[in-house]
Amino acid sequence: MKTIGILTSGGDAPGMNSAIRSAARTAINNGMRVIGINRGYNGLLKGDVVEINSNFVSDIIQKGGTVLYTARCKEFFQPEGIKKAVEKAKEIGIEGLIVIGGDGSFNGAIKLCNEGLPTVGIPGTIDNDIKCTDYTIGFDTACNIAVEAIDRLRDTARSHEKCSIIEVMGREAGFLALDVGLAVGAADVLVPEMKFDVEKDVCENIIARKKQGKTHHIIVVSEGCNIDVKTIADIIEKKTGIESRITVLGHIQRGGSPTMLDRVYAAKMGHYAVELLMNGKCNRVVAIQRDKVVDFDIKEALSMKKTIDFDALKLCKSISK
Ligand code: ADP
Ligand code: F6P
Repeated sequence: MKTIGILTSGGDAPGMNSAIRSAARTAINNGMRVIGINRGYNGLLKGDVVEINSNFVSDIIQKGGTVLYTARCKEFFQPEGIKKAVEKAKEIGIEGLIVIGGDGSFNGAIKLCNEGLPTVGIPGTIDNDIKCTDYTIGFDTACNIAVEAIDRLRDTARSHEKCSIIEVMGREAGFLALDVGLAVGAADVLVPEMKFDVEKDVCENIIARKKQGKTHHIIVVSEGCNIDVKTIADIIEKKTGIESRITVLGHIQRGGSPTMLDRVYAAKMGHYAVELLMNGKCNRVVAIQRDKVVDFDIKEALSMKKTIDFDALKLCKSISK
């Protein structure tokens, strides 16, 4: 393989730049040509590309977001879109492609593989919801940003003796909410993976904490829960008499300089992805398992199961009183 392409797709995640840098330099140092594709699959369809040399990836390791931009691409859901993308890749001279993104992006990558474009996926999403890997690029930074914000919210909740309800990201998964909840000492963490009744489960816990002398409460809610934070706040106020305030952290969690952990895992995975392509191994997803970099068949990777740590969820609540 002489020429590879790299793109970032789906939600951006801090650390993606470290993966781009590592993959690009590994390929260049091994005599390959590297083409950066701007704006995810949209860029591939349009041939919106940039030549990546070693200098292109200088001074990006500490930057949040992705220097290749990212996007979502509707055309990829149609077979014609996939065919067009593979033809475009051939026209540009791309023989192998690295896709840095979430499981949606990997679904697109499978289809590219099926049409004959060798592809390797690197897990990059703040949600940490990719089944085959213990860790996705961006998760650690997003957790730390949420923790820092909630520590501030705790100061004001404590001063006003209120309940602070914070919505964190995680489209369909509670991984972010759970780790953040444990790290901030939340009274409760609400995730889509676990059914809950606000009146019974959340309010009764708050009432018990109040009896114990606790004057403020932090509730972390994953955006994937099928109840909105305003409704939760209204129920808590009505049932416990404690004034409640809501904060939706939103995209703040996706920005900022990546943590050391995100940079290190991204660097290792970027390097590994190029090694796979160089060794003729494609249609793979790079993953972290027990702190080691490994790889899986892309279809197998997407069919695997991963669930949140329910014991940790129980622990969070039990040590809140
Ligand atoms: P993420 O990769 O972060 O999970 P999305 O789910 O939004 O983000 O997916 C990113 C892009 O990947 C989509 O806009 C689309 O172009 C492509 N994609 C997602 N799912 C599929 C699919 N089933 N088939 C083809 N392409 C897909
Ligand atoms: O996939 C990462 C993520 O940040 C999810 O947690 C969130 O639901 C989604 O992306 C939001 O994406 P956007 O606002 O860019 O459409």
